Amino acid sequence: MSDDFQRIFGTAPTGVWAAPGRVNLIGEHTDYNEGFVLPIALPHAVRLTAAPRSDGRLRLYSAQGDDTTTDVAVAELAPGAVAGWAAYPAGVVWTLREAGHRVGGADLYFESDVPTGAGLSSSAALEVVVAAAYRDLYDLPLTQSELGLLCQRAENVFVGVPCGVMDQMASACCTDGNALFMDTRDLSQRQVPFRPAERGLELLVIDTKVKHDLGDGAYASVRSGCERAAALLGLRALRDLPAEGLPAALAELPPELAPVVRHVVTEDDRVLRAVELLDKGEFGALGPILTAGHASLRDDFKVSCAETDLAVEAAVAAGALGARMTGGGFGGSVIALVPAGVTAAVGDAVTAAFERAGFRTPVLFTVAASQGAGRLS
Ligand code: GLA
Repeated sequence: MSDDFQRIFGTAPTGVWAAPGRVNLIGEHTDYNEGFVLPIALPHAVRLTAAPRSDGRLRLYSAQGDDTTTDVAVAELAPGAVAGWAAYPAGVVWTLREAGHRVGGADLYFESDVPTGAGLSSSAALEVVVAAAYRDLYDLPLTQSELGLLCQRAENVFVGVPCGVMDQMASACCTDGNALFMDTRDLSQRQVPFRPAERGLELLVIDTKVKHDLGDGAYASVRSGCERAAALLGLRALRDLPAEGLPAALAELPPELAPVVRHVVTEDDRVLRAVELLDKGEFGALGPILTAGHASLRDDFKVSCAETDLAVEAAVAAGALGARMTGGGFGGSVIALVPAGVTAAVGDAVTAAFERAGFRTPVLFTVAASQGAGRLS
């Protein structure tokens, strides 16, 4: 790594940082409605080897890229000025400057094993690793939460994707062996133990290989539907609609918005119930909540697709305790909570079902709740 850095940039690096991707256990499309989320960090991460530069230039190279180096002046960064993957790291540096931090240039060498386009937050990991490295390189007084928030702003304003705050917070704030229970309204957080292996369970990720892209407009359109519904109901956000108020609210809303609102309100409740179960160590009971969450995303929120629906159905039929799509939807990955003894059989069943349906071969792997962003060396 250090050799590669030297080869590309001609100098020695200062250190190495990492930031993980995530899966969300439950609480999907609740973050921009100011509700609750419950993600874990993945063992898969973006690793960044970096050194500061004194000439104000930002040079970016990705081992997964096309062997070109992006070279821009930090002072000239502006939304729209950098295209492609490099916009994510450049956006973070721009956002730091905009927030009044005194930052200069850097040489940044990226390597990632977070699958891209799989709904596993490879972009958030790419942003957060830059924020973590810059904090150390330029001695910035930033907490993990502040790193996450800055990175969300970079994605919203610099890259132009109207994402919520979950992915960046997960990458920055998750801790080893825990799920991050977060109220996205005030960003208050609690680490909830999530070690399914201790209960003889595994969390299986099924990447459907259907490309998920937040930038393609579908995410922005469901988000604006939620905001319209909240405005029609006279609420600051859908988070403010209590479950008891749901029937009356649904009757008041235009038919295309009612199911969307039902998803958000019931999903917030599923997060709270999931946290209660995890606190009591009742991991198995989490399964049906996951599957109910998927049904809600499929039937009410309408962000699933044939591949994620089939993965959930086949996994549950083969013995998973529960399964659901994770992330924004329109493709991406499914998670399944599986008794360790049947993980292989569940994987085989999903793969066989995909083959019968003529879908691409899914990629399967088990994950443990891992550590958020930080310095490695
Ligand atoms: C994407 C966004 C998140 C969140 C999820 C859906 O991952 O980046 O902010 O809205 O979709 O839960």
